[in-house]
Amino acid sequence: MPTPSASPHLPFGENKHAPWYGKDILSVRQFDRADLEYIFGVAHEMRGMVERIGTFDLLKGKILANLFYEPSTRTSSSFTAAMERLGGSVIPINEVRYSSVAKGESLPDTVRTLECYADVIVLRHPQTGSAEIAARAARKPVINAGDGAGEHPTQALLDTFTIFEELGVGRIDGLTVTMLGDLKYGRTVHSLARLLSLYDVKINYVSPEILRMPREVMDEVAARGVPQAEFTTLEAVLPETDVLYVTRVQKERFADPQEYEQVKDAYVITPQVMQAARQEMIVMHPLPRVGEISPDFDDDPRAAYFRQMEYGLYIRMALLAMVLGKA
Ligand code: CP
Repeated sequence: MPTPSASPHLPFGENKHAPWYGKDILSVRQFDRADLEYIFGVAHEMRGMVERIGTFDLLKGKILANLFYEPSTRTSSSFTAAMERLGGSVIPINEVRYSSVAKGESLPDTVRTLECYADVIVLRHPQTGSAEIAARAARKPVINAGDGAGEHPTQALLDTFTIFEELGVGRIDGLTVTMLGDLKYGRTVHSLARLLSLYDVKINYVSPEILRMPREVMDEVAARGVPQAEFTTLEAVLPETDVLYVTRVQKERFADPQEYEQVKDAYVITPQVMQAARQEMIVMHPLPRVGEISPDFDDDPRAAYFRQMEYGLYIRMALLAMVLGKA
């Protein structure tokens, strides 16, 4: 039976000189193309290890604090699964109202508390910039699992890994990626657009007028010379699209419920709509979906959104191993 030590990327010993040892993961701005190649290489090996032996002891004795101030299914449970697949354990705080946060404890104090018991902290919080606040307070690595409408870097990493794995290694250059839906509040698309701008891609943004991609994100992407175009309908760009990245209109971020009602059903992906798309393309979604992709499309081989969730496990295994000096 293969063992972790058989892999060049998965030594048993903790390496305090490893480039990501002890580092926070707060924003995709931290990564360059070489970093992504390295992370995807480790994630690919993690996938092989899970498929061959399931669980192994790379992080035996290590503890993750999973601190979620906002609801989550995928991010929370995939970080838990990642740590447990690597032989570590998890302190789950998925309902902060049952923690001392409900008594008014601040985020820095909560983080200082958890790092007494854990080796790494994964944080989801409704406020943009909260992960940075937590990282400033913490001595241990903090991983941003989504900060309000700010960033979701581990999602963008798994999204880019999905494109690599689904469309073939090295095939991000030259692709046309179309992002659809709530581009204003969607932190996943903010992070993904920034990360994809490391490659030679074209990005289309399709959204209602009130949910356009923020100017600051587009300016960052433009500074890397990536062509971008904005649309309010999908028809014009669907035939040229290699990756259609669909997002949910995020009801919870609207101050005015009437505004949400006006745009909530702006786009719905159905088998009929997808007749205009290529056969060799993929449809992605960070999930959860509410109505923007019809379940009738789920059996289409181009529907990559359920496979995308599994890639998240391997990316999060890679990131935990990296910040804990084991990859
Ligand atoms: N994609 C994502 O962040 O899903 P959860 O909100 O379920 O974690």
